[in-house]
Amino acid sequence: MEIGLLTASQLSEAASVYALSWQTSHRSILSPDALSRHDATWARSHLEGLTAAGHLLLGLYEEGALRGVIAVRPRSGELSSLYVHPAHWGKGYGSALLRAALLRIPSGITPSLTVLSSNARARALYERRGFLPSGKAVLLNPEKNLSELTYIHPERKQIMKVLAINGSPHAHGNTAASIGIVAGALREEGIETEIVQVGHLPVRSCIDCRACRSRPDHHCAFDDVVNACIDKAQSCDGFLFGSPTYYAGMSGAMKAFMDRLFFTGGLPPYKVGMAICAVRRTGGLDVYHQLNNFMDITNFIRVPLPYWSVAYGNRDGDMMADEEAVSVLRTGGKQMAWLMKSLACAKDAVPMPALPERKWTNFIR
Ligand SMILES: Cc1cc2nc3c(=O)[nH]c(=O)nc-3n(C[C@H](O)[C@H](O)[C@H](O)COP(=O)(O)O)c2cc1C
Repeated sequence: MEIGLLTASQLSEAASVYALSWQTSHRSILSPDALSRHDATWARSHLEGLTAAGHLLLGLYEEGALRGVIAVRPRSGELSSLYVHPAHWGKGYGSALLRAALLRIPSGITPSLTVLSSNARARALYERRGFLPSGKAVLLNPEKNLSELTYIHPERKQIMKVLAINGSPHAHGNTAASIGIVAGALREEGIETEIVQVGHLPVRSCIDCRACRSRPDHHCAFDDVVNACIDKAQSCDGFLFGSPTYYAGMSGAMKAFMDRLFFTGGLPPYKVGMAICAVRRTGGLDVYHQLNNFMDITNFIRVPLPYWSVAYGNRDGDMMADEEAVSVLRTGGKQMAWLMKSLACAKDAVPMPALPERKWTNFIR
C-alpha cells in the first residue's frame, strides 16, 4: 500500500473511483437521475477545482490500482473528498488516507471537514479518528432531515504533543519521575506530554505473523495498547521511551511493547525521540542503547543530550536526588522542544526527504 500526491495523469483514474464511491454512498438519498449526473466527468472537474483552490489530492494505491482518494488544504486545514472504491470498503483504507492527509496539516491549524448527517459510516470513521461535531449544521433537506455537518479535530489545535511511554510497572517510580522532569521542561515550552504506562500491563510479545505489514492502518493483530499508541502517534511530534533496568535490559513489558510498536511500520518518520532509563546501580546504559536501537533504524531524529539520560534510584522517586540526572533530563526536555520547533519551522522551507527504497539482503549470498 502506498499513499502519495496524485499527478494530473492520475486524475481520470481518481475521478472514476471518486464517482463510483460517491454514487454508492449517496444511493439511499438521491434519485437515480441525480446519481447518474454525478459521473466521472463531474468528479474530474470537481477534483480539478479543488486543486486550483490549493487542495492537495492524495491517492492510495495497492497492487498498482487506485483504491481511494482524499483532498487536503494544508493552509486552512480543510479535508474533503474522502472516497474509497466500494469493493474495498472496510479494509482501513479510509483511515489510512485520513491519517496521511492529517499529517499534511501543520500543527496549530485545526483540521475540519463536512459530512452528510445521513452518512453514518463516514461519521463513525471520523469520530474514531478523533473528529467531533463542531455544532455547525446546514439544513439541506427539511423533509428528509438531511444536514451537512461540520466536524473538527480539536486535539490538533494544541501546538505540539509528545507521547511518553513508561515501561515501568510503577506509576510513580523512577522512570515516571524522569519522564515527569522532561515533560515539565516541555510544558514550559508550550508542549504537551501524554503519558502511557505499559509496564504493569500483560503486553503480548510479537509472534512475527506480519499481519501489521499488510494492514493499511498498520495495526497489530493483538488489539491492545500498541494499536492505541500507533493511533496516538499520528498526531504526535515527539516521543519519549522510558524503562527501568531489569537485569541490564529494559522491562519485559516494554520490550514486548517496543518490538510490536516499531515492527508495525506505523510510526510516522522524522519524529523527535528520546530514551530514558531508571536504574538502581548497573546496566542502565545498556537499556539506554536498547531503547535507542529502535529509533535509530526507524528514521527518528534523536534529541541532542549533554549526557546519557540514565537516572539512578531504587524505590519510588529516589532519582530526584540524582541531581546530575535531573539536570540532564531537564536539558533534554528543553532541547527536545527546540528540535521539535525547529523542524516544524523548517517543514515548508526544507521538505523532509522522501524515504529511500529499502534494500533487504538478509545476508544471503
Ligand atoms: C526484575 C528486576 C530487575 C532489576 N535489575 C536491575 C539491574 O540489572 N540493575 C540495576 O541497577 N537495577 C535493577 N533493578 C532495579 C530497578 O532498575 C530500579 O529499582 C529502578 O529504579 C526501577 O525503576 P521504576 O521505579 O521506574 O520502576 C531491577 C529491578 C527489578 C524488579
